[in-house]
Formats: sequence, C-alpha cells, structure tokens
Amino acid sequence: MFIYKTKVFTGNVLSAGTRNSVCLQLVGTKGSSPVVHINKLLMLKRGSVRNIEIKSQKDLGQLYLIRLNAKKLILRQDKDWFCSKVTVTTPENEEVLFPCYNWLSTEEPLAIRDATAKLVFTDIPEGRVEREKELEKRQGYFKYFPLDGKCTRTVFLSVLKQTVHLTFREQFGSPSSRKATSDSLLGFQYVKEHWEEDEFFGYQFLNGINPMLIQRCSKLPDNFPVTDDMVKASFQGQLTLTEEIQNGNIYLADYARLNGIPANMINNKQQYMAAPLVLLYKTADDKLMPIAIQLKQKPGEDNPIFFPTDSKYDWLMAKIFVRSADFVEHELTTHLLRTHLLSEVFAMATLRNLPPIHPLYKLLIPHSRYTFQINIQARNDLISDDGIISKNAAIGGKGLNMFLKKAAAALTYSSLCLPEDIAARGLESIPNFYYRDNGEKLWNIIHSYVEGMVKFYYDSDSHVEDDSELQKWIGEIFTHGFLEKQETGVPKSFGTVPELVKFLTMVIFTASVQHAAVNNGQHDFVGWMPNCPTSLQKGPPTTKGQCTEETMWETFPDIDVTAYGLITVNLLSSQSPDFRALGSFPNERFVEATPLKLIEKLQEDLQAYGEDIETRNVGRPLLYLYLAPEEIENSVAI
Ligand code: FE2
Repeated sequence: MFIYKTKVFTGNVLSAGTRNSVCLQLVGTKGSSPVVHINKLLMLKRGSVRNIEIKSQKDLGQLYLIRLNAKKLILRQDKDWFCSKVTVTTPENEEVLFPCYNWLSTEEPLAIRDATAKLVFTDIPEGRVEREKELEKRQGYFKYFPLDGKCTRTVFLSVLKQTVHLTFREQFGSPSSRKATSDSLLGFQYVKEHWEEDEFFGYQFLNGINPMLIQRCSKLPDNFPVTDDMVKASFQGQLTLTEEIQNGNIYLADYARLNGIPANMINNKQQYMAAPLVLLYKTADDKLMPIAIQLKQKPGEDNPIFFPTDSKYDWLMAKIFVRSADFVEHELTTHLLRTHLLSEVFAMATLRNLPPIHPLYKLLIPHSRYTFQINIQARNDLISDDGIISKNAAIGGKGLNMFLKKAAAALTYSSLCLPEDIAARGLESIPNFYYRDNGEKLWNIIHSYVEGMVKFYYDSDSHVEDDSELQKWIGEIFTHGFLEKQETGVPKSFGTVPELVKFLTMVIFTASVQHAAVNNGQHDFVGWMPNCPTSLQKGPPTTKGQCTEETMWETFPDIDVTAYGLITVNLLSSQSPDFRALGSFPNERFVEATPLKLIEKLQEDLQAYGEDIETRNVGRPLLYLYLAPEEIENSVAI
C-alpha cells in the first residue's frame, strides 16, 4: 500500500467555503489514485486545511496533476469553492505543491499541474496533453476586446463570467480611498493654490499625471511660427530663441492628435477642445516655463500665439485650453490606452496561450490581477454611450472613438520602454524630472528580476525560439495589441533571450510602474477643475485683448459636469482594500530555489529604492510620491 499524505487548503478569501461534495484524485506517470471525498458532509471552511491520506495499491510514479471535482449535496447546491493549493507528501517523503488559486464549480472540474515550472518541450508527454487541453478550454472563454474600447455583449459577458469564475473572483472588493492620506490632500491643496502659475504649469509636463507628451525641441514646427522677437522677453535679453534651441533649453508639447476631433454636446450646449502647441524654456535656475502657446494647429490671424507678456486673462485662458487638451491626452492615450487597454491585451494573451505551469504564466499572472474587471467597468461606466466621460467631457461622443483610434495607430514599442522613450524625446538631462528618475530605477529593478527568471528557464536563444506557446503569445499581442503593424517595432516572434527579457520588462513595467505614475495623481491634478477642465464651453480665443475673468468663468464647464469629473477622478485615484504592491506575490506559484531567491531580491531592491524616497523629496514644494513602492500596484487594478 502506498500512502500519499495530502493537505487541501481552502483560500482565505470572501465566500471561499462550500458544502458541495468535493473529490480529489492524484495523477502520476504510473497511474492514478482512487477518487477520494475531501469533505463528505462537512463544510470546507474559508481559510481551513483538510488532511487526507490517500491510499493506493500501486506506486503512482511522478505526480504531475490533481483533479478536483465538486458535486452538489442531495438537497441543494452550495456556492463554488475557492481552493488555494494542495500539497502531497509522497511515500518517498517528497512534498509536491499544486498551486490552484481557483474556484471550483459543480459544472466544471479542475485539473491542476504541479508547481515546478516547465516549458512545453521540457514537460513530460502526459503533461503536454494536459497543457493543450487547458489552453483549448481557455481559448474558448477568453476573447479579445477591440482596442478602440467597444465590444459585443456576447464577448463581454463571456469574459466577465470566466474572469470571475476561473481566475479572479477572490479579488472583488469595494475600493477605499488612497486620497484620504494627508500627502494627497496636500497635493490637491497645492494645485488649488498654484494652478494659475507658469512654473506649476511647466512642472506638470514633467511630474504631473501626463509626463508623456513633452519633448526637446530641436527645430520649431513649421505650423508654430514663433520668432526670436516674439519671445525675447522670456530670455531677459540674454540669448535668442534660436540660440536657446541650439543649447537644448527649449521644449515642445504638441497636441496635434486633437486636431479635427469633434467636441461633445453637453447640457445641449456645444463644447470645445483645442489642439495646442506649447513652447517651454528651461531657465538658468532649472525651472520649466511656458513661453508661447498657439491653440490651434493651423497658424493664421484668427489663431494668435499667446505669450506670458499678454494680458493676464489672455495668457491664463491659453493655459486653460492646454490643460483641458491635456485631460484628453492623459485620460485616453496615456492612461486608458497605454496602460489599461495594453495590460488587458497582455493578460488576455497570457491566459489564452500560456498554461499555468509555464514559467512566464507564473511570472506574469500577478500583473493582470483585476485588469479585466476594471476595464469592463470603464467600458460600461466611463466610455459607453452614456458613460460619465462620454456625457461630461468635451471628448465624449463620436470624437472619443476617433481619438482613441488615432492614439492606437501611433503606438510604438520603444515609446513603452521608458529608457528608450526618454532618449527619443531628448529628456535625458532635463532637471527635476522625477517621473524619469524614479521610473528608470524601477525599470532597471524589474529588468534585473525578469532577466534572472528568463535565464533560469531558457538555457539559450534556441529555447526561446522553440517555445511554441511563447511564440503564440507574442503573435497574439502583435495582432491584437498592435494591429499587425511592423512599424510599431513590436516583435511578432522572439529569437533571443534579451529580446524576451526586454519585452517582459515592458509588460510588467506598464502594468505596475507606468500605471501608478499616470493614475495615482488624478485626484490631485484633475480634482481642482480649473487646473484640468474636462470640457470647455466657449471656443479658443481668436483675437487678443478679449479675455476677462468673466470670459473665463463662462468658458469653464457647468457645475454638474465639474462634479462628475471630480467624482470620477476621486474614484480612479482610489486604492482597493486588497491592494497588492509591486513585488508582493502571496500566491505560491514558484517552488524552485532560484526563482524564489529572485523574488526575494526584487523585494529587497524595491525596499532599498523606496528607502530614500523621502530624502529625495526633501525641499520639494510638491512631493512626488506616485512612484513610492507602496503606491505602485502589481497590476492595473483601478
Ligand atoms: Fe487606472
């Protein structure tokens, strides 16, 4: 008789227990154990452990699978059961872990592989069969949403049902507010007090919620005819604009993507958006100051270029139109498309193509937690035809999809890789750029972690090439995330270890660090409406000398629009009660010593990075804490 000492763990999550009758069977290379009842008439309680001895007439060989089945009791069916893991001690005294972290319904059994990660060509033949079965099942459940934010009801319901049942239901919970912290209230207060100032206007291009638009200006765009004379006051008679451009001190923010996008009707009133060009100057004392603003792309008499030397309200109105344009660029391109929707594509490709025993499934799955749920909510409540953004932002209505399509068409791989993006925008040396400084450190920490993992599982480039599951994974990302466009620079296959390491770094960075940088400060920067109006109800001024304080108030959105904007950004900046910080992986998925050490090293690196955040913030009037490690979530979850 061969005795397998088995421990069955019910997860410690809401509603995890069940009275359904649960059966377990062990499967090894030499045969299967009898099917045993785990609970009979007992309830499997949340957080509990059941010890079972499974007796087999024969040696089962190498255990590689367990099967879990649930049946309803005679009288009634109980709720699904959440199994976190099963451990088995073999007659040879070897402990085998089966990570589950899944819900078992009476409708569908679960087949759980052991925890030792395997690539498809290092797996045993029986294991390869199980991989195929698992992926076939998942590909039936999980279907891509289109990147423009629309989806059919059938696809939507299918994905929602399966994400709830298969993978993520443990994580439901109502959000609590991160913004109740004193630091955040200070941020909001600071914005309220400084929103009119040029220095703060410039600061936001680097350390606000949209640090993705500004670039060094090496040549003025043809449609932005600023002359040396026009801006000489900004240089206090020292150098000219041409000379300052040569010295690398001039920067540009161009909102060209908004050109030609129709604005919404709100409360039966036409709304307006500008497509501005902004010129900024890095002063000798390292401030970034706006020196010229043109609100429409086509130069002309009805499209004056505004300067700080203009009247107070001419200049302030020009800045308000820029901030309102930045709301659109930030929410739709920087936040929704480049973090939420891309992370969804990565998560979908992972669930469809990598079986749970694949090392990269284990690596990536914590970085997709909650992403489907929050995106489904965003599709329903924010950008659907009667969503909050559709109803209360100038970009709502048909402009929203036009804009998203333009933004999706402009996506490139290198713009998603922080070091390359910073270099391409010429921002390597601009001072006081905290997003870059923190982001680069975090990029390197994640890169080192990913490199360790990939090198442990892939001995050589040929292993990467031969991993058919991985190649399908990147193929689907190329097709569904980047619309099969070679010019995006996204690979459609992987040939080498470094290529794979870089791509995986980008995937994890996007879901965690990048999302934190562009998400967590929304309440601070958008909560005070004049700093970031979601809509404006008068057009950009066409002549100078017409703007007054009254014009400004008439241009700001109605109070209901303002209130909806505030409620939305407050919610979007909130933190869920079961927030998991970057590098925190409570679900045991890896068992080998090297990956466990790499996770430990990642956590140490993040802690060391975080320890001097407070020191680095000393002396700053506005703290930059969006990339403090405890503020970065593993995944796009809000
Ligand atoms: Fe978000």
